Amino acid sequence: MSEPAALWARPIPASQTHTPATATSRLAPAFLQGRVGVGAEPIPLQTFAGSEFMEAARTNTDGFDAQDQIEGNPNMGSLWGVPSLLVVPMALAWLYKRWAAMRQPQGAQHFFSPDAHCTVDVSALESPAVSMATVTGERTQQYVLSMDDLVSLCKRRGFVYQASDLYGGFAGFWDYGPLGVELKNQIKAKWWKKMVQLRDDVVGIDSAIIGSPKVWEASGHLAGFSDPMVDCKESNQRFRADQVLYSAVLDAEGKQCGYVSCQQDEVSNEKALAKKAKKLVKEAGGKGPHQPLNFKELIDCPVELIDQIPSPATGNPGTLTPPRDFNLMFSTNVGPVVADSSTAFLRPETAQGIFTNFKNVMDTSRVSLPFGIAQIGKAFRNEITPRNFIFRSREFEQMEIEYFIKEDDWERCHQEWLDTMHKFLMETCGLRPELVGTEVHAQDKLAHYARACTDLTFHFPFGEQELLGVAARGCYDLTQHANASGRKLEVNDQQTKTKFIPHVIEPSLGVDRLFLAVLCSAYDEDEIGGEKRTVLRFSPEIAPVKVLVLPLVKNNEDIMGRAKDLFERLRMRWNCTMDITGAIGRRYRRGDEAGVPFCVTVDFDSLEDGTVTVRDRDSTEQKRVSEDELIAELTKAIDGY
Ligand code: GAP
Repeated sequence: MSEPAALWARPIPASQTHTPATATSRLAPAFLQGRVGVGAEPIPLQTFAGSEFMEAARTNTDGFDAQDQIEGNPNMGSLWGVPSLLVVPMALAWLYKRWAAMRQPQGAQHFFSPDAHCTVDVSALESPAVSMATVTGERTQQYVLSMDDLVSLCKRRGFVYQASDLYGGFAGFWDYGPLGVELKNQIKAKWWKKMVQLRDDVVGIDSAIIGSPKVWEASGHLAGFSDPMVDCKESNQRFRADQVLYSAVLDAEGKQCGYVSCQQDEVSNEKALAKKAKKLVKEAGGKGPHQPLNFKELIDCPVELIDQIPSPATGNPGTLTPPRDFNLMFSTNVGPVVADSSTAFLRPETAQGIFTNFKNVMDTSRVSLPFGIAQIGKAFRNEITPRNFIFRSREFEQMEIEYFIKEDDWERCHQEWLDTMHKFLMETCGLRPELVGTEVHAQDKLAHYARACTDLTFHFPFGEQELLGVAARGCYDLTQHANASGRKLEVNDQQTKTKFIPHVIEPSLGVDRLFLAVLCSAYDEDEIGGEKRTVLRFSPEIAPVKVLVLPLVKNNEDIMGRAKDLFERLRMRWNCTMDITGAIGRRYRRGDEAGVPFCVTVDFDSLEDGTVTVRDRDSTEQKRVSEDELIAELTKAIDGY
């Protein structure tokens, strides 16, 4: 499911599309804004010499329709007011700065251009030259979001740290800092509110992380919860065989010259792979150029070929072992005796705790079909290759629902839960719609008992990947547990007076993965008053800190007292902070970087007329509000009522 061309495109409203033919006339704003394709389809990368650029900059100073675009952008508008003589050196300086910035984030594969209506050719990243662009929309700032940027922001602002950081970290484990735990708690609380408390047909539970090993035997996890693993004997690295890709290298005449390989999320690095292929053709005395590479998963590689596939770690063939199954469950021993009989497992999913409590909930709650049982909790998987920050880790949290239904209702309920989860991602978590996709699992890839499984995906900076899954699991799990335990896990059908084991729809979402998607989606860079700002545009509903209270000055007792009093009242309702250090603008920026949606400033006027300034993070607009109305206004903006 990786994004082959690593191309991220935002649709352009029909009224704003341009044909490539008009692009040259729009070259100057394009250069000034960044590198972008034109129209709804990405156009081939184009580069321009400095002289062409100067010409374009000069011809564009006469305004015409390029002006329309620039007027919408507060950062660029003033540029066209300066004498044209200054435009070229300014633009060249900008160009150089832009190029230097572009080269910086290693491994970045995505452009995130929050409000610009544009398409982006990511291959431009590899080129120091700037490609052409037409940018429409209100804000045309362009930037590259790399995982490096995000990881460092997370550490700097106390969202996420490496686990066991003091000792150099511990692969696959992460700790959440003060802001991180608040964001995570918000995500979980809002999910629980919407999926459990605001519904009549779902109840919650909290089951143990370690249960009887019989649970995992019955569910099939002991026998089958494994990933195919290959070892590289030279580097001692391990890979998931379904995440290593390989391709034969054929020269221009079809002669086989060897193989190239890479990990799944490196396949978009076409340039590096083409370089390796070219080298192989040359070494084999073949005729260039090589034919297009055709990647397959290593899991499908015939065993006799494995020796010829280069290791993704070293690039050398002959070091990979044939794939073998590796069970992902962590084991431990329960009680003082370490023996096979005391072996138990940390749950790899929260779902089985729901199935094993099905009868308890039926017997003790007033539920009847269709109904769901929800659970939020930790899960543990000994992932072979934990990767991409908190995306795939060895300890993570899940939010799962098992929704029990009659068999005939499965298609409708499956779709309803997909819609519900999509709505939660959009409306509550504020994910940008264009970053969320859908992947329907092919019938031949489904587990034998499953009717369907559809993932909602997210365009992470490292490619499009599963964010959550909604599976129609038939009646497999309850049947397995009924058979293994000898207990009846049935419901009565009032109409037919028969008993049956219900079918189930399972929406399953990783908290940490959603946390990462929320961060990626919220991350933005823009300019305020000519100064670059990094801002996390969290939806107010899930923002970790809702309000930042700012006394204008800290050396005035009345202002400080009033601000503290307001802060005490606001924090009874939401997680709020107070910041008293530094100039007001700097404090706003600190709040923006932490994603605080509202800043409330208490100043001298507040002492006179009882009003405060409320500043909106996204628009940076400020308005005076009376303290009496403040809570009502904020409640509407944060809680939506
Ligand atoms: N009960 C079904 C189940 O566990 P899954 O697709 O294996 O299905 C569900 O996991 C969700 O849990 C995924 O969509 C993802 O959000 C999250 N998840 C799975 N493995 C993860 C890992 N190693 N690290 C972080 N999140 C993970």
